[in-house]
Amino acid sequence: MTAIITVANQKGGVGKTTTAINLSAALAQRGKRTLLIDLDPQANSTIAFYNSGEIATSMFDVLSESRATMASVVKPTKDQMLFLGPGRLALAKLEQVLAGQFDAPYRLKDALAPIVKEYDYMVLDTPPSLGILTVNALVASTHLLVPIQAAYFAIEGTDDLLETYERIRARPNPGLKVLGVVITLFDKRTNISRDTHGQIRTVFGEVLFKTKISKNVRLEESPAYKETILTFAPKSPGAVEYKKLAGEVIQRVEEDRVTRHAEDAA
Ligand SMILES: Nc1ncnc2c1ncn2[C@@H]1O[C@H](COP(=O)(O)OP(=O)(O)OP(=O)(O)O)[C@@H](O)[C@H]1O
Ligand SMILES: [Mg+2]
Repeated sequence: MTAIITVANQKGGVGKTTTAINLSAALAQRGKRTLLIDLDPQANSTIAFYNSGEIATSMFDVLSESRATMASVVKPTKDQMLFLGPGRLALAKLEQVLAGQFDAPYRLKDALAPIVKEYDYMVLDTPPSLGILTVNALVASTHLLVPIQAAYFAIEGTDDLLETYERIRARPNPGLKVLGVVITLFDKRTNISRDTHGQIRTVFGEVLFKTKISKNVRLEESPAYKETILTFAPKSPGAVEYKKLAGEVIQRVEEDRVTRHAEDAA
């Protein structure tokens, strides 16, 4: 069973895209055939691999009325195990395009169905909102991964995300589970980071990944060179931490598979 992981937090700039890109690269490096899907009109995940002029068709074409197939929009990357479903600014129009369409929340799930078996992992980068794109991601996913920035008021707003998650579990996608919460932009020298770490741990407990992603300038630089952190600065803390996070992700996904199997058998 393919693990389909939505990376979401409606707060902006918390490390969703950085996590989606580098977690995908780390999964691919561990031999997992991985598809990174960019559902953000800002297309930051896409620009980390391609110039916008190189993208002829995107997830917009898949989700809008033209309904291009996933197979026709997926692009390879320098890593032969890593593939990209590119995003584009046009995605911003989707809210209007899909307004009133009864199947609007199911477009992505339907589009992924024919190719899902070709991948071990899919990682979905979402915009900083809980609109139709994030809802499509959650309806199509097996798991939700929430990056939270180590900063004051970091937890504010996660209520809304978890409420959306519960609503989607209640009806269109009861199989959706929280894979985990990862602390990003962590700076161990600051009280802010230490305080918020404690607070996040109190709120989320077991769900919190052991791996924290530190603040590291290499992570900011690598997209400009069209590289992931694993090739750009393989020994940097960012590379080491995202590889560790991938290890935890694989472990949780595999444990969950066993649980689901047992539930199905019962
Ligand atoms: N661990 C880190 N260390 C240093 N810089 C980081 C780190 N993680 C992310 N950044 C930088 O912080 C900024 C925001 O990160 P990112 O784009 O990943 O967040 P986002 O949640 O996807 O934002 P948006 O909500 O706009 O999509 C970017 O400039 C990114 O390069
Ligand atoms: Mg982003």
